[in-house]
Amino acid sequence: MKTVKILMVSYEVYPLAKVGGLADVVGSLPEYLVKRGIDVQIVMPYHRIVDKKAEYIEKTDLILHTNELKQKYTFEVYRTHLKAGNVPVFLLKNDELIDSDDVYGGHDLGLQALAFSDAVFQLSKSLNPDIVHCNDWQTGMIPVFIKTYSGDAMPRTLLTIHNLGYQGTFDEYYFELSNLPEQYWEKGYLSTGGMLNFLKSGIVFSDFVSTVSPTYADEIKTEEYGMGLNVLLSGLGDRLVGIINGIDYVEYNPETDKRIPANFSLEDLTGKKDCKVSLQKELGLPARKSAVVGLISRLVDQKGLDILAEAAEDLLSNDLQLVVLGTGEERYEKLFKELAEKYPEKVSANILFDINLAQKIYAGSDMFLMPSKYEPCGLGQMFAMRYGTVPVVRFTGGLKDTVKEFNSNNGTGNGFGFYAYSSLELKKAVERALITYNSDNWIAVVKNAMKTDCSWENSAGEYEKLYKKIIESERRPVDA
Ligand code: GLC
Repeated sequence: MKTVKILMVSYEVYPLAKVGGLADVVGSLPEYLVKRGIDVQIVMPYHRIVDKKAEYIEKTDLILHTNELKQKYTFEVYRTHLKAGNVPVFLLKNDELIDSDDVYGGHDLGLQALAFSDAVFQLSKSLNPDIVHCNDWQTGMIPVFIKTYSGDAMPRTLLTIHNLGYQGTFDEYYFELSNLPEQYWEKGYLSTGGMLNFLKSGIVFSDFVSTVSPTYADEIKTEEYGMGLNVLLSGLGDRLVGIINGIDYVEYNPETDKRIPANFSLEDLTGKKDCKVSLQKELGLPARKSAVVGLISRLVDQKGLDILAEAAEDLLSNDLQLVVLGTGEERYEKLFKELAEKYPEKVSANILFDINLAQKIYAGSDMFLMPSKYEPCGLGQMFAMRYGTVPVVRFTGGLKDTVKEFNSNNGTGNGFGFYAYSSLELKKAVERALITYNSDNWIAVVKNAMKTDCSWENSAGEYEKLYKKIIESERRPVDA
């Protein structure tokens, strides 16, 4: 069979520009696809931060002119590659539109994403991929341009949703800027509540839609998780699929990781104890045997911070130390700072983002907390398990797909969890974990966690199958 050619589009690609998990995925999946013989090229905006992160950047002769929008914009095309060197990354540069140090800080993000999408559509005409693989709302208008303006030779489109909570909604004025056929607006293809909705547009116009875990793919068809798009998503039938993310097993390897104070492995866990003591010392916590519970998260409701806030005092009545890393809503930042003042021997509040400290927490903690209200996939529990840190999670989305409750009767299970979204259930799950922590069974849970396969190998194979299916399937007709 002929080589499958993919153009992957994303606003974030690790290490070039990272805000969240999207960057980790688009920064690592392509290399595993290439290993399977798939031809992958990536395209992203030339964010200012990229200059600080890229090993090298070269200018190409290519200049892209938007062609569909009401106004014309020009993007210069630069090139770099992912760290392993075999995946080219195109950087589209327009300093007037991409004018912030923050990935999502531009003065007009709606216009920026529209113009970038038009430019990617123009680029796809010269690269001629089989599939344009879009990610998240910022790329949602690309399938619309492709289906509206290209003929029979048009590439197929796949839109991957990493978080349905961010849809990219903008004033109707942006629809006028897009210059798309009036009937799209009349038929409601592109809007929700009178606003142009980029993610919905992408869902309506792409050939296939995927999301980042099988459970989340089911959940988003329900009113509870569907964020207003559940009916549309249910209507996709088998054109909506869930593929669990993986993590980079080379970069995240406790046996070789240089960012942690001591290395360790499944066979020899001595180094993990050193990591714990060193973490406690670094954070000013007494180096006790108490369970160290890590939380690395955006401090927002989605991540279960409201039930955690409710349960916090109760949880701290147990023998444990809570280590928090992250920023977010002020009330939660304040809460952890206050708890750290009140319980200096039990709580360490690090209200910042620091990749190296994150790594030390993954390696040095005993447990890792993710009580998410919803979680499309979640990468934190995977990093934690890889470093022998036992996840305590709410069983939702990708957390449900990767974490199984430990059963002390037969020694199966790699973590602890709960279903009903409540502070009481959260507290009970942590307390079950603590009981096991203080028993001879703990080592079994730790080892089960480390043995859990969260590498990209399997999932890259799933994407390969999906790509082939998309190429073989009929184009999806547009009807919302
Ligand atoms: C988003 C989701 C997270 C997922 C990540 C990568 O950040 O919230 O659950 O792991 O995207 O797909």
